[in-house]
Amino acid sequence: MEENVSVQWFPGHMAKTRRKIRESLALVDTAAEIIDARIPQSSRNPEIDALIASKPRIVLMNKADIADPAENKKWIRWFEEQGIPALAVDCKTGAGLNRVLPAVRALLADKIAGWQQKGMTGRSVKIMVVGIPNVGKSSFINRMAKGDPAKVENRPGVTRSNQWFSLGKGFELLDTPGVLWPKFDDPQVGERLAFTGAVRDEILDAEQLAARLSWILWNEHRALLCARYKMTGSEQPLNGFELLELIARRRGMLISGGEADTERAANTVLEEFRAGKIGRITLECR
Ligand code: G4P
Repeated sequence: MEENVSVQWFPGHMAKTRRKIRESLALVDTAAEIIDARIPQSSRNPEIDALIASKPRIVLMNKADIADPAENKKWIRWFEEQGIPALAVDCKTGAGLNRVLPAVRALLADKIAGWQQKGMTGRSVKIMVVGIPNVGKSSFINRMAKGDPAKVENRPGVTRSNQWFSLGKGFELLDTPGVLWPKFDDPQVGERLAFTGAVRDEILDAEQLAARLSWILWNEHRALLCARYKMTGSEQPLNGFELLELIARRRGMLISGGEADTERAANTVLEEFRAGKIGRITLECR
């Protein structure tokens, strides 16, 4: 088994983000935490629980369309066991998104009833969208705001950098203030974020990354890998690089002298995995 692929991180300004999130939390009723359904652990900011502990929260498992449906269900059950309502959604097509606002309404039922008792009928529900880069926050906001996000301007106490979006029907969204980074120090987390494309390819060795991913797929999802790359499953690669060679040959990716073009195969495997073409695969199973 190869070593984990080492990922170079750009930690950014977590302290500043932390402060901005705390300030913004005072302005919202709830937080919608968006995660990548293929890596429900690694796509969460490690500090998120502590940061948003003061607010009721809903988890949106995005990219559910390319994650294993059985695992989606198991993860939803797991979140619900932690007292956190969770939904599987696909912000690319919008599937599942019609359940988000009813779920938020249910989550805040007592609070909303309290507003009504006080005659605060015009009070809209404010939701803060949080999530690490690339989980689909912009896609979510664009979908929910129906492609025409109307920004709410000049709200007292809100700095210009805070992005508000009106959803109509008494709901407003606030985008994550600042960048919520994933966990930097765990190489396995970095590797999984790289597999799913959350980490930019320019800072990684694609061949090493694809070799590692192929090896994991060979060991854990062999039938899907073999179906995609026309292998029988009885091949005996010794490592991920040999697998890439096999894949290159099956796809006719050869360079002069008949050598396997493993660089091309690597890019193909990464691209196809990220697009869900190898199958609906969850890398972190419950
Ligand atoms: P962010 O704001 O959290 O950084 O994420 P963003 O919405 O930019 O989405 C990151 C990538 O994930 C985009 O792909 C987007 O299309 C894709 N994506 C978002 N939601 C879903 C989903 O539910 N399912 C699938 N399959 N993909 C999703 P991209 O390749 O960066 O851009 P593009 O090629 O789609 O334009």
